[in-house]
Amino acid sequence: MAVYASNHPLVKHKVSLLRDDKISVKSFRELTKELSVLLTIEATTQLTLANKPLTCWSGVISAPLLAEKQPTLVPILRAGLGMLDGALSILPCAKVSVVGLKRDEETLQPISYYQNIVNDVSERQAIIIDPMLATGGTALATLNLLKQSGCKHIKAIFLVAAPEGIKILQEAHPDVDLFIGMIDKELNEQGYILPGLGDAGDKIFGTL
Ligand code: URA
Repeated sequence: MAVYASNHPLVKHKVSLLRDDKISVKSFRELTKELSVLLTIEATTQLTLANKPLTCWSGVISAPLLAEKQPTLVPILRAGLGMLDGALSILPCAKVSVVGLKRDEETLQPISYYQNIVNDVSERQAIIIDPMLATGGTALATLNLLKQSGCKHIKAIFLVAAPEGIKILQEAHPDVDLFIGMIDKELNEQGYILPGLGDAGDKIFGTL
């Protein structure tokens, strides 16, 4: 597994803005979307191209086009939905596979309550989107689910990640690449990332 922590100055700047404890729901949503665009670009730099004949104004050329089906985006409910518009804005033909996993706030273990994975997932790359990689429990369960469904190529995008979560994913799924806006310091006893963003789902949905 490779872990790519973004070096893009705009990513660093926007993650810092997200940390402001006075941030409005509107700004949190907008920044989440903008970061999702930037990180989706980073996560798709290795999509395969194939030259295909294309008739353009000056005649027929051999043009590089995506060789394979567009990836399926996999938002983990509910916070992952906040990243969907941004990711879809540059992958407009992507299919969406929704996975509903939430953290049991006492055990910190994921509880599955919904899954709807595209039926041709074995022919597509999957890109998991979730703002926060904390303990790694929900991401791990999603990776397991996707592989059980036949998916062979998986990447994951997180706005902020804790070293603990990265380690868990690295050990369990060494073939999966992670694209991260910012790697933070640690988790607190409640499983929240420090310095982190607080509860990203609540901030995106305005349920604070
Ligand atoms: N989920 C969040 O929204 N924030 C954290 O810090 C950890 C998990």
